[in-house]
Amino acid sequence: MCGIVGYIGEKSPKEVLYSGLSKLEYRGYDSAGISILGKEQEIQTYKSVGKLANLREVLKGVEVSGHIGIGHTRWATHGVPSTKNSHPHNSKSNKLSLVHNGIIENYAELREELVNKGYEFLSDTDTEVIVHLLDANFTGNLVESVFKILPILEGAYAIGVISSDEPDLLVAARKGSPLVIGLGENEKYIASDVPAILEYTNRVIFLEDGDVASLKQDEIKIWDLEKNEKSTEETEIEWDLEAAEKGGYEYFTLKEIHEQPRVIAETLKGKIKGNSAIIEEMTLTKEELENITKIHMVACGTSYHAALVGKAIIEQELRIPVEVEVASEFRYKNPIINKTDLVILISQSGETADTLAGLREAKKSGAKAIGIINVMGSTISREADGTIYTNAGLEIGVASTKAFIAQLIALYILTLYLGEKKNILDDKRRNYIVENLKKLPNMVEKVLDIEEDIKLKTRVLDSARSSMFIGRNMNTAIAYEGALKLKEISYIHAEGYQSGELKHGPIAMISEECPLIAIATKSDTYEKVKSNIEEVRARSGKILALATLGDEEISKISDEVIYLPEIDELFSPVINVVPLQFIAYYAAINRGLDVDKPRNLAKSVTVE
Ligand code: F6R
Repeated sequence: MCGIVGYIGEKSPKEVLYSGLSKLEYRGYDSAGISILGKEQEIQTYKSVGKLANLREVLKGVEVSGHIGIGHTRWATHGVPSTKNSHPHNSKSNKLSLVHNGIIENYAELREELVNKGYEFLSDTDTEVIVHLLDANFTGNLVESVFKILPILEGAYAIGVISSDEPDLLVAARKGSPLVIGLGENEKYIASDVPAILEYTNRVIFLEDGDVASLKQDEIKIWDLEKNEKSTEETEIEWDLEAAEKGGYEYFTLKEIHEQPRVIAETLKGKIKGNSAIIEEMTLTKEELENITKIHMVACGTSYHAALVGKAIIEQELRIPVEVEVASEFRYKNPIINKTDLVILISQSGETADTLAGLREAKKSGAKAIGIINVMGSTISREADGTIYTNAGLEIGVASTKAFIAQLIALYILTLYLGEKKNILDDKRRNYIVENLKKLPNMVEKVLDIEEDIKLKTRVLDSARSSMFIGRNMNTAIAYEGALKLKEISYIHAEGYQSGELKHGPIAMISEECPLIAIATKSDTYEKVKSNIEEVRARSGKILALATLGDEEISKISDEVIYLPEIDELFSPVINVVPLQFIAYYAAINRGLDVDKPRNLAKSVTVE
């Protein structure tokens, strides 16, 4: 959702900014640009529309010297992707240059006021108002001027700004959009997230909402919006740079699918002892845990699907009612939350604007809210009452794969934890759950081993214009997730349905051009799913089924079958999602698409 990066120091800003943007490109790739300032120079700005490689072409052969600069990769919100709408945006005098991530909600009013004052707008963006507003309020002191305009801006922002009047200063501010500061020897960085600067430093400071930072090569100051200077809290990041490389795979998405056995093991590591779950980050007291009678889960997209699987697991195992809500709905529906309810926010990035707003909404009710989060130090993890980290490592592919599997594992761990603390699960059941969890890395490995077979069977989608995914109970949300993955990266329209619902309408879609992908692995509802497949077969639909190894019946009623290792239905979502990830991946590859950067999408959705 737009990526910003900034640098001040002795290295070449052109190199640092470009490298940073290449790590941030997954956040948006509609256009990109950089501004660089030298000690005795003017601000020089270069932009290009489309993917970052186009900016490289623009920069080829251009001698850009300087020691300070800002860069931006855009995911368009206001104004189409074009050179004029790409960032950085500069003041008319070219004294100020600014990059922004977020949305300025009152930009239309501000624009009108500025136009009345004689400002000329060159773009259709909400961002351009910030730079003109800054110019209109400029006192000659950049920090002071930024402080003057921030209270006027409504909405969300992370900004980086430079001024030719103060060529030794980079100013950054955030509210609602993430921003991290990197610390090096006699140099500073800013970035939307850590991977952008990890090549140069792993020492970072996560800015809080409302923070304003002034960065010089050898000095850093941070204030809150009331101009109180804050002490800086440095964090050392453990992720290594290798995580940001493709490691021989054609796409990050494929690499991340292959990382899943390790991700499961990592997420389990340290969290299981005997038949107990240990969640050190859980800050709820014994009494608070005992009092929980209802759980709410709030998330978006793939994380929402993980929440739906979590509901099925928790309700089956613990008989505690769980309500799952899409975060963008939750915040506006005046949710009914009692003080004794537990609210769980699920998010890979920990920065999704709607999920973050859901957390703040939940906290207003006085209920405890915990996060299941992948990115350490992210805003949700810092604001929640506790966080279960998913340890999937850096996820770069825009389509979430390994982070989803890690979320499922965290939900099993949470189930085990609550089951023990609330005396719901006896020793025997807990032993059973732990035994199965430990088997999962190996079982997912077995699915990775049949990648070639899955790739071949993905051919049922070759002439598809649309597709249906069905599943039941534990696997309903896996059908939704399979459909979302396919839509996202192959652009083949796909719908996920509960198997039993197909006959109530969606079956009308089934045709030569709309195959069915059915999750028909062994489960309590296996026979019912088989009947649902028969219904489609009777209408000459093409069928690709996921079935349990040894199931001969399914091959008689399906065109293609992908056989998966046998596991208790409770854990089957972890196994069943993997072939669906491969199907989406190979469907996209077969259509010649860029899997890691699907059109219109961005990795971290930090706007509403
Ligand atoms: C789909 C996908 C998105 C995210 C959603 C929430 O592959 O990645 O649907 O799951 O935008 O993002 P997080 O989990 O970062 O809150």
